[in-house]
Amino acid sequence: MTLRIGIIALGKISERTHLPLYKEVKGVEVVAACDPDQERARLMQDQFKIPRIYKSYQEMFKNEELDAVSVNSPHRFHAEQAIAAAKHGLHVLVEKPMALSVKDIRAMIAASKKAGKVLMVEQFMRFLPAVYKAREVIQSGKLGKVLTIRGHFGHAGPEYWSPEGKWFLQKKEAQGGTMLDIGVHEIDLMRYISGKQVVQVSAFLGILRKKIDVEDNAVAVLRFDDGTLGTLESSWTNNPGSCRTEFYCEKGILDMNLSFGDPLVIRRPEKEPQPVPLPKKHPEKSPMAYFVKCIREGLVPHCNGAEGGRSCTVVLMAAISDKEKRIVKVPEIG
Ligand SMILES: NC(=O)c1ccc[n+]([C@@H]2O[C@H](COP(=O)([O-])OP(=O)(O)OC[C@H]3O[C@@H](n4cnc5c(N)ncnc54)[C@H](O)[C@@H]3O)[C@@H](O)[C@H]2O)c1
Repeated sequence: MTLRIGIIALGKISERTHLPLYKEVKGVEVVAACDPDQERARLMQDQFKIPRIYKSYQEMFKNEELDAVSVNSPHRFHAEQAIAAAKHGLHVLVEKPMALSVKDIRAMIAASKKAGKVLMVEQFMRFLPAVYKAREVIQSGKLGKVLTIRGHFGHAGPEYWSPEGKWFLQKKEAQGGTMLDIGVHEIDLMRYISGKQVVQVSAFLGILRKKIDVEDNAVAVLRFDDGTLGTLESSWTNNPGSCRTEFYCEKGILDMNLSFGDPLVIRRPEKEPQPVPLPKKHPEKSPMAYFVKCIREGLVPHCNGAEGGRSCTVVLMAAISDKEKRIVKVPEIG
């Protein structure tokens, strides 16, 4: 049976990933979408041949028979819309950052659990071949125990990604800046590949270059549950952008540099750097294909609400650490 998808919000992430990638999945149809900006909605409707568009998710839920939704609105609407969708009996794929408070993250998880539906957080970097291989290398134990992790993700800022998305740069609409936007990707990579949980965070956030009221740069130090230490940097002023995650292990270093050359290299003492061969594609093809597979096969996604929630919680706690000038204990999720 065809799986009927509704899309909440038709901004850049819908245009660049959700709409084109759902088209590649067999037995799936985007039957409807909504966005308060009807001009933008009509543009996307024409481009992707979306049968029906609405102004709000309430209107869409009232008029459509759906099985699942993608929640692709600005961060501050994720919790309300994901919860409403779960209560409406729908599977939910929600964009990162999952939500803007721990309370909301927990409420989203509880709502999907009560509905018995899939809740997946769209941490798309988990679906890169280099990330798949990096996790395999670390989890195999061949480099020994991970002792420290250094993570950095920076680019020029969301104004280059979505020129219309001015809300990203405003505290009252976005709550936070680069840490919430892309720091959440980096911490998710560090956690997913290492399989460790962050228990404490201490951070500094700064507005170093842009005339905005959310941070354009942030650094955090982390303690993981087994004592592993880490640093996390996030920037909206890196041009060209870079994304590098280094795992310093007992027997060598795994260097995942997604921005340059061979993205995955193992370095050992007194040996030539050893590039790790990568598959052309991740076995799951795309986050949307994996979301559909989880629905059809009754699987719990590896980036479920608890997992996406844990990465999101770390960056939420980093902002609290900076504001209150203290080390913050990271609450457990799930
Ligand atoms: N996974 C990723 O790598 C990735 C990349 C970019 C953006 N995102 C996330 O996707 C979300 C959207 O980002 P974007 O770049 O598409 O932003 P955008 O500014 O390009 O688009 C946002 C859209 O949401 C619409 N909107 C505003 N209020 C709404 C509401 N109440 N209900 C429904 N729609 C509403 C706007 O009209 C606009 O069309 C953000 O949370 C962002 O962090 C994720």
